[in-house]
Amino acid sequence: MKELLDILSEKFGAAFEKAGYGAEYGRCVVSNRPDLCEYQCNGAMACAKVYKKAPIAIANEVVTSLPDDGAFKSVEAVAPGFINIIIGEKTLNAYLNEMAVSEKNGFEPKSIGKTAVIDYGGANVAKPLHVGHLRPAIIGESVKRILKFDGYKTIGDAHLGDWGTPIGLIFTEMQDRNPSLVFFDENYTGEYPAECPVTLKELEEIYPFASAKSKEDEEYRARARQAVFELQSGRRGYRALWERIMDISKKDLAKNYGSLNVFFELWYGESDADPYIAPMIEDMKKQGIAKISEGALVVDVKEESDNKEMPPCMLLKSDGAVGYDSTDLATIVQRMKDFSPNKIIYVVDKRQGLHFEQVFRTVRKAGIVGDDTDLIFLGNGTMNGKDGKPFKTRDGGVLRLEALVKDVRDHVAEKMADRDLSAEEKDEISRKVGLAALKYGDLSNAATKDYIFDIDKFTSFEGNTGPYILYTMVRIKSILEKYSSVSGLSIAVVLAKAANGEYKLSDIDGNDSEKKLKLQISLFSTSMAQAVAEIAPHKVCSYLFDLSNCLNSFYHENKIVAEENEEKRKGFIALICLTLKLLETGIDLLGIEAPEKM
Ligand code: ARG
Repeated sequence: MKELLDILSEKFGAAFEKAGYGAEYGRCVVSNRPDLCEYQCNGAMACAKVYKKAPIAIANEVVTSLPDDGAFKSVEAVAPGFINIIIGEKTLNAYLNEMAVSEKNGFEPKSIGKTAVIDYGGANVAKPLHVGHLRPAIIGESVKRILKFDGYKTIGDAHLGDWGTPIGLIFTEMQDRNPSLVFFDENYTGEYPAECPVTLKELEEIYPFASAKSKEDEEYRARARQAVFELQSGRRGYRALWERIMDISKKDLAKNYGSLNVFFELWYGESDADPYIAPMIEDMKKQGIAKISEGALVVDVKEESDNKEMPPCMLLKSDGAVGYDSTDLATIVQRMKDFSPNKIIYVVDKRQGLHFEQVFRTVRKAGIVGDDTDLIFLGNGTMNGKDGKPFKTRDGGVLRLEALVKDVRDHVAEKMADRDLSAEEKDEISRKVGLAALKYGDLSNAATKDYIFDIDKFTSFEGNTGPYILYTMVRIKSILEKYSSVSGLSIAVVLAKAANGEYKLSDIDGNDSEKKLKLQISLFSTSMAQAVAEIAPHKVCSYLFDLSNCLNSFYHENKIVAEENEEKRKGFIALICLTLKLLETGIDLLGIEAPEKM
């Protein structure tokens, strides 16, 4: 289905043409003066400059050139040359009726056949998932869903930090505590035990301990570096131990991400890019773009127009080790080879912006990525506490993601305490509503902005919050339940009837709140297209918030089930069924689930 704004623009374009002007001036937009009109066409202003005529004269000609087909309730040229438009109820209803029976509610995907890789995990193996990984996970999952909605084949990659210093530290500490462990025996040639010799709990204690010790102990630090080197060079026992640790760690991460409704298609780690590093560096040397600088091998990425510091991209450090730059470069080599994506999107803390700029410039320079592939860094801002500083636990430590999710859930559960619901229902509601509070609180802010985590605000059932959106959905379901008991049709049957066109909007004149709801519904495709174009989940949030507000005013100002005129009543039911469908689609794009009751 075309966007309604495009349909209107075509009509006005034709009228401009009929009056002797270019059709391009017919662009219609949503009115910024809703007190005066619903849409506006401001093309006469620009047209006037080209045709050297008074804008109001052109606007008047255009208005009289419109066909008399009843598409509009009123069209008015006003000084100095705007055209104010009020759409006809029938036109709007027909559009909405078609939306109701269309796939994706009439939204036309524009990216079928294209592929996008989204890199939004970044958790580090053997370290618990902490709040810093919350935003990339939540935003990345939503970005993936939004692009998929637009037709992209989407591939989410966890890109775990599985290969660097932390593993070396863990190995070193494990060896100190348990030197006889067979994984450390260089002369051992048999099979290694399948079980991981440490539990996750132990790892969580070992890593911070080793990390602290390495800061004071030079020799210890050197041993950890050596362990990483030997692991990367393929020492058998280290590889086996690493695999065991990866195994338990990935399972735990999958569970944790899963509890956020975040899923990855690929569970690659930095290590998976390793085989691509050496040939990539060889190639860059051949091309003459890799050069030695202060003992390290680097690629210069400075450009003349740079007005900030732009250090070179580091291929090999002076000790010959590969680091974060090479890993990300080689990961791009791998992704290009495996998927030839049209887009690679990184949802990573915005403080890593410079790193990605260096990496992007390098892969362009080396011809690894051509013009057909966009490289996009979607740097996310920080979630701060009420003190405006990055969110911490009460005692100032790093907050574990699990604990945060639980906190929010408990907060919702408290609110539900005196509700007449079974324990099971309360449990499901607090899980879903808690998660919605957390995710919506995050996603409703532009990704790049910092925001303040405010548990009371986020879990409120009023205002621009996840629970408010869910509450609106539950309200619609409870109206349908009431309708069900009067009509004798189950909710599922009513929803099906609305979705196959048996229930249609009524053309009988309604009140203002009804029209407003319809207008907001009609903007669905336009708003989703904006969210896709700007890769912006917060645009989905604001659409859903406006829609919920319209639905709630409609609910307060109309009798729905008690409406006596049957055609009107069925029209109302069709209207709220469509609203529910849009809300369902929208929250799914955000990675949020709705409970049946609240
Ligand atoms: N593991 C990294 C960190 O914790 C984030 C990885 C982000 N993704 C990437 N492709 N570099 O800082």
